[in-house]
Amino acid sequence: MGMKETVLEKFAEVFGDNDGVKVYFAPGRVNMIGEHTDYNGGHVFPCALTIGTYAVARKRDDRKLRFYSMNFEKLGVLESSIDGLKPEKEADWTNYPKGVMWAFGEKGFEIPCGMDILLNGNIPNGSGLSSSASVEVVTGFILRDLFGFDVTNVDLALIGQYSENKFNGVNCGIMDQFAIAMGKKDHAIFLDTADLSFEYAPIKLENAKIVISCSNKKRGLGDSKYNERRSECETALSELQQVIGINALGDLTEEQFETYKPAIKDEVRMRRAKHAVYENQRTMKAVEALKSNDVALFGQLMNASHVSLRDDYEVTGEELDTLVEEAWKVEGVIGSRMTGAGFGGCTVSIVREDAIDTFIEKVGTAYEKKIGYAADFYVVEIGDGPVVL
Ligand code: GLA
Repeated sequence: MGMKETVLEKFAEVFGDNDGVKVYFAPGRVNMIGEHTDYNGGHVFPCALTIGTYAVARKRDDRKLRFYSMNFEKLGVLESSIDGLKPEKEADWTNYPKGVMWAFGEKGFEIPCGMDILLNGNIPNGSGLSSSASVEVVTGFILRDLFGFDVTNVDLALIGQYSENKFNGVNCGIMDQFAIAMGKKDHAIFLDTADLSFEYAPIKLENAKIVISCSNKKRGLGDSKYNERRSECETALSELQQVIGINALGDLTEEQFETYKPAIKDEVRMRRAKHAVYENQRTMKAVEALKSNDVALFGQLMNASHVSLRDDYEVTGEELDTLVEEAWKVEGVIGSRMTGAGFGGCTVSIVREDAIDTFIEKVGTAYEKKIGYAADFYVVEIGDGPVVL
């Protein structure tokens, strides 16, 4: 049975029938390079995946909201109202779809009635492949489709980010929601977060594939040091602004940073800002490398990105470092780095096809030996943005 049939069958079982329903999908994402640059006015280079969130939805003739997730079946049907939406206790997954409904209201789009919504995601939870942004974008996509709201896919990304910032209290940048809402098969998105200009770049890896290694160390952005890193960068920016007229760390070249960095009055903050500046430049170089078919150079820049995230930005940790450092030892690995916010979650590697089995075996064994539990590996494909199925 395909996913569409599975979710329809479950919907009928949970909500009584399939009258008036539609089925939707929004992907997850992986970021190839450009980490912790999106809230610093820098560049990112993510792509949408073919795994993501499946949803079944229909309108109701009252104001009720009924939610059911096949990923949290024990919770059963969670009921609330489209009126007076506010965040429930932490760790309630319905905060994500409700946040998006609330955000539509804030932006002047009045939702006329309640809904029944069932979700089923095949992105591993808390893996750093943006299962929450996927839920946000699929919700916005459903609202646009059911109620005919005049919003673009970029708006869906912005509304998703707004809801995550204001409803869920996570100060995330725009990368995840943008990558998901604007995904394109076999392409990564070279996005300038300073003005949201972007370009699609084909990912042609010849005889190699993208492999995701999942650390299985659970992480929630809210309880991580994500917001702390953000404010360290903001403070460093305001110190730099005393000596040079810039809007964001992403405005600086490496040379300019080296010239003006004494304005930053703290050694830790200086390293945070250095990462933001150098990572942004690295991302631009990596996209150039890919355009000239230099996958080897792209891989080296991925490796350098990890080192900077490990040593200067300090968002990796033993689990991610082990996955990456073991990957670097395997012949046929073109590049490997942590991806996403860090502190857990997963790594992204470009691995020659004939080396994938050895990669999984070697990295998997070394990881389990050192960390004490297993990692999971996924060979992934780059897919499109949200669709009606
Ligand atoms: C998380 C956030 C993104 C981005 C990354 C780090 O995924 O949601 O906005 O900041 O971390 O690059």
